[in-house]
Amino acid sequence: MIKTKISVIGLGFVGLPLYLSLLEKKFKVIGIEKKSKIFRDKVKEIKDIKKPYFGNIKLDRLIKKNINKIEISLDYKKALNSDFIFICIPFHIDKSLRVNFEEYYKTLEQYYKKVKKDSVIILNSTVPPGFTNNILNIFKKKKIFRNDVSLVFSPERVEPGIKYYESITSSPRVFSTNNNIKISNKIKKLFLKIFNINKSQITEFNKYEEAEFCKVLENSYRAMNIAMIEEWGVLSETLGINIFQVIDAIKTRTTHSNIMRPGLGVGGYCLTKDPYFAKYSSKNFLQKKINFPFIDLAMKINLNMHNRSIQKISDIIKINKIKKTLIVGISYTADVNDLRNSRAIDLLKFLNKKKLSTSIYDTSIRKKIILQNKVINNKVQFKNFELIILINKNNNMKLNFSYLKKNTFVIDLNRILNNDQIVIIKKKTKNLIILGRGDL
Ligand SMILES: NC(=O)c1ccc[n+]([C@@H]2O[C@H](COP(=O)([O-])OP(=O)(O)OC[C@H]3O[C@@H](n4cnc5c(N)ncnc54)[C@H](O)[C@@H]3O)[C@@H](O)[C@H]2O)c1
Repeated sequence: MIKTKISVIGLGFVGLPLYLSLLEKKFKVIGIEKKSKIFRDKVKEIKDIKKPYFGNIKLDRLIKKNINKIEISLDYKKALNSDFIFICIPFHIDKSLRVNFEEYYKTLEQYYKKVKKDSVIILNSTVPPGFTNNILNIFKKKKIFRNDVSLVFSPERVEPGIKYYESITSSPRVFSTNNNIKISNKIKKLFLKIFNINKSQITEFNKYEEAEFCKVLENSYRAMNIAMIEEWGVLSETLGINIFQVIDAIKTRTTHSNIMRPGLGVGGYCLTKDPYFAKYSSKNFLQKKINFPFIDLAMKINLNMHNRSIQKISDIIKINKIKKTLIVGISYTADVNDLRNSRAIDLLKFLNKKKLSTSIYDTSIRKKIILQNKVINNKVQFKNFELIILINKNNNMKLNFSYLKKNTFVIDLNRILNNDQIVIIKKKTKNLIILGRGDL
């Protein structure tokens, strides 16, 4: 039997676990990274099994297990013989709607022009609705359009955190071949083989735009949901209300079960950029221009959300002459080794500017030093700090408040503490602040 040949282009947060999951399923798969010094080092880092690469038990085990089979190349030509090519490289956008279109397009074109006959290129990157069709139009204009190569759009739906690997292998999939029945059947067959899903967990859209829209809308919805709760957090603190009790009550209604909670702010790679794609599409690809005032407002709120927490911390430091602080959880969300747009980094920069001695407790981060601050990966002694700032709690973190020094400041910016911990802390100190809780 001829083995299906697959390649994964871009071995980052999305591409590398996808690559490993394909190896695990015994496919002939090659991973391609960008040619440059940084990425040469990255390949070395991935293959250095002495240091866990992901900080995620399952994925680090998979690297170890498959170490002799891992084939990563910086030479794109090695992918040209593939039946399926997953493109997992980033399509960036910023708030001024500037994108890396040229760079992305060039990568795509180099594969499209040279891949073998009947190859299928699957775009996993998040892109503005209208993008895939636009690319095909450019291929046609440049007279490099091929009838024997197909483009499919199928967004990645990875969930950062404890279910990272499972979200790659088992998330329901959406895709569009723009109504090419032969390729649609090929994709469905492939997805059923490579992912742990059944037929009912695959949604096929007729148009590329619908699948592109699906990804951008789901992330815009989440970003707005977070932005919406911010002012209610402020109100609850002003009125002496415990917003979490209210949110828990609201969540008992299934129709409202994903209401968000106040926090330090929105970080990570996706929610901080994806809503802008709707605006980009409207401006560049779609006939009807829409202004998207909700997106503008939500993104502005999210971008500034951490300033409220920083102001609270600034006041505490100034009034109480704090010198030694601890940040618990530095990545943008729990259980990830990913600092992209982490609001905790903004906070760390602020503390460093104030010349405080700040340590970081985070069990998922590979680095030993971030900015000039020490990262503690194992056990932490809370008694050594005057101010403890709780941002994320990884699954394997132990937070023991029994040895707090008297009157230590504890500030919880993300509903980290449970009721028992609150009772313990309150016995030690009157200086407990929880974002969203005006009742304390
Ligand atoms: N991070 C997430 O949670 C998430 C979730 C869903 C979708 N996405 C989308 O998936 C895409 C990839 O995101 P990511 O988080 O994996 O990014 P990433 O930056 O972690 O990884 C991208 C990788 O692609 C490599 N690369 C860049 N250009 C290349 C080229 N020309 N050839 C080969 N390799 C190249 C980079 O070196 C990097 O290792 C983005 O469009 C993103 O929006 C990300």
